[in-house]
Amino acid sequence: MSKEMVLVDDKGKRIDGRTSEESREIKIEAGVLKNADGSAYVEIGKNKVLAAVYGPRECHPRHLQNPTKAIVQCKYNMQAYSVDDRKRPGTDRRSIEISKIVSEALENVVLTGLYPRASIDVYIEILQANAGTRCAGLTAASVALADAGIPMKDIVASMAAGKADGHVLLDLNKEEDNFGEADVPMAIVPSTGEIVLLQMDGNMTREEFDRAIELGVGGCKKIYELQKDALKRRYSAEEAEEEDDSDEQ
Ligand code: CDP
Repeated sequence: MSKEMVLVDDKGKRIDGRTSEESREIKIEAGVLKNADGSAYVEIGKNKVLAAVYGPRECHPRHLQNPTKAIVQCKYNMQAYSVDDRKRPGTDRRSIEISKIVSEALENVVLTGLYPRASIDVYIEILQANAGTRCAGLTAASVALADAGIPMKDIVASMAAGKADGHVLLDLNKEEDNFGEADVPMAIVPSTGEIVLLQMDGNMTREEFDRAIELGVGGCKKIYELQKDALKRRYSAEEAEEEDDSDEQ
């Protein structure tokens, strides 16, 4: 792929046919794993992400215990087969950074004060990557936390915006991320509008940055609706199952 490739044509269409304000297709499902306390599966375009939650449970390693509150320990992991060139398995600087920012974003909503000394463990597995995996992972982790019944003041919704070919765009795909000018992943607490994750890779003007935030926040709000939908579907399915069980008795 050459650097001269056109990412946004003269009609404002992107290489996957989207307008600047459109996200990729989104699918969210809650409660996909039986053995975790909570779980979720998210697809955003070609990204495929699984999140699993355990806890609150005893914090290991012990020296990380906080006597006043629980800690959220997130582990972001990209599978070797998730990218075009096999990714070397295991922890690297990027996965440590993403685990940290996702944990910090989630600590803004989890009522950690209820569980002193405990740990809430969040595992994010990237099964297929196509840019925006930290946002998809955080979106999935929030749903998995809610599915686990962890008390939270709200769920966190996440999406990136960015810039390619001089256009500010919502939800960059891999080509736009690789060959574009900037990537701005963000996450919000939708009920308050608080921004709990904001990063920027690349350059944009102040006006472009404001527009990226506007687009990104709009994208997060859309994600939020789909997260709530997934949780509602999960609990209505569970209720139906319980009703079936009581009918049989
Ligand atoms: O995934 P996200 O946009 O949050 O993070 P990034 O570090 O900006 O990575 C952008 C994309 O580059 C990933 O989603 C993958 O598609 C790709 N990537 C890769 O191919 N190999 C890696 N070791 C890391 C990232």
